[in-house]
Amino acid sequence: MPLLAFETSCDETSVAVVHDARVLSNVVSSQVKLHGEYGGVVPELAAREHLKNLMPTAEAALSEAKVNPDQLEAVAATQGPGLPSALMAGLKAAQACAFSLRRPLFGIHHHEAHLYSPWIEGNPPIANFSEFQPNVSLIVSGGHTILVHVESELKHQVLGCTVDDAAGECFDKAGKLMGLPYPAGPQIDLLAQGGNPKAFEFPRPMLSEDNDDFSFSGLKTSVRYFLRDHAEVLNDAQGLRDLCASVQAAIVEVLVTKTIRAASRLRVGCVTASGGVTCNRALRAGLASACARDGLKLRLAQRDLCTDNAAMIGVLAELKLRQRIGETPLDADILPNWRL
Ligand code: KG4
Ligand code: ZN
Repeated sequence: MPLLAFETSCDETSVAVVHDARVLSNVVSSQVKLHGEYGGVVPELAAREHLKNLMPTAEAALSEAKVNPDQLEAVAATQGPGLPSALMAGLKAAQACAFSLRRPLFGIHHHEAHLYSPWIEGNPPIANFSEFQPNVSLIVSGGHTILVHVESELKHQVLGCTVDDAAGECFDKAGKLMGLPYPAGPQIDLLAQGGNPKAFEFPRPMLSEDNDDFSFSGLKTSVRYFLRDHAEVLNDAQGLRDLCASVQAAIVEVLVTKTIRAASRLRVGCVTASGGVTCNRALRAGLASACARDGLKLRLAQRDLCTDNAAMIGVLAELKLRQRIGETPLDADILPNWRL
C-alpha cells in the first residue's frame, strides 16, 4: 500500500506518494522567488507559505498518484533538521493525517533521506536498491556540506562537514557580491560555462588538511577582497564569466578532492552526491572524471531530486516501514538540530 510523505524543512513545500519504491507523485511548490526579494530565506515567511501550500500540494500529490487517503499505509514527514517553524508545519500536518487515518507515522531525518536520493532514478522515479553498495556520500546544499560513509542500507557515519558556510551558501554569497540575484548558484554555473576557471586564483580552503571537513567562508571573503581591488571585472561580460568560473573551480576542486580522498581511504567502490549544489555542471563533471580515473562508481541524484523533495522522504520512510524500525509517536516534536 502507498505511503504519503511531507517535506517542509526549508523553502520547498513538497508532498509525495511512494509505493513499493515507486514514486507515484512528487509535487514541489518552491518559494525561491518569494525569498529572492529578501536575498535569502525568511523563516516566518517560509512557515506561512508552507501552511498555505501544504493542503493543495498534498491534494495534488494524491490526485496525481490516483490514491485515496484511505488507501495509505503510512504517513511520513521531515522531523529535522531545518527551520523550526517550517518543520512544524509539515510534521504537524503529517501527524494529523496519521491520527485521522489511524496509520503509523515516520519522522524522517532530512539528511538521511538525501543519502538515499541518488538511488532514485527515472521518470517516473523508482528507488533501485538492488545495486546498492557501500559508499561515500556528499550532501551539498545551501544549508549543508556533509560527507558521510554509508556502510550499508540504513547504516551510516558522518565523516565531516563544513565548519562555517555551506558550499551553496558560498555560491550565493559570492554571487551577491558580484551583483547576481539570489540564489546565485545556478547563475554562476551558467556564466562559468563561458569563462576561464584559471583566470583568477582563489584559495582552496582545507584542501590539504588531513580531515573530511570543509570551510568556505574564507573563500567568500577572498572574493570580497578581489572585487574591492578589481571592481572593473564586473563591468566586462567576459571578466564576470572568468570570475564565476574561477570561484566555481575553487569550490568544486575542494568538494571533489575531499570526497574522492575519503572514498579511497575507506576503500569503498562508490561515491554518491545530492543536494542543490549537485545540479552544478562543473561539480557533476569533476566527480565523474575523478571517479572514472579512480575506478569508482558514481551515482549523482538526478536533477529534479537534487533539491529538497518529498520523494526521498517517502523512499526512506518506506525502507524503515518494511524493516519495522523508526515509527514515530504521534505527539513527537520537531528536531531542528537533529544530528545525522
Ligand atoms: O538543496 P537546496 O534546495 O537546499 C537548500 O535550501 O539549502 O539547495 C539550494 C542551494 C542554493 O545555495 C543554490 O545556489 C545551490 O543550491 N544551487 C547551485 C546550483 N543549483 C542550485 N549551486 C551551484 N550550481 C548550481 N547549478
Ligand atoms: Zn536538503
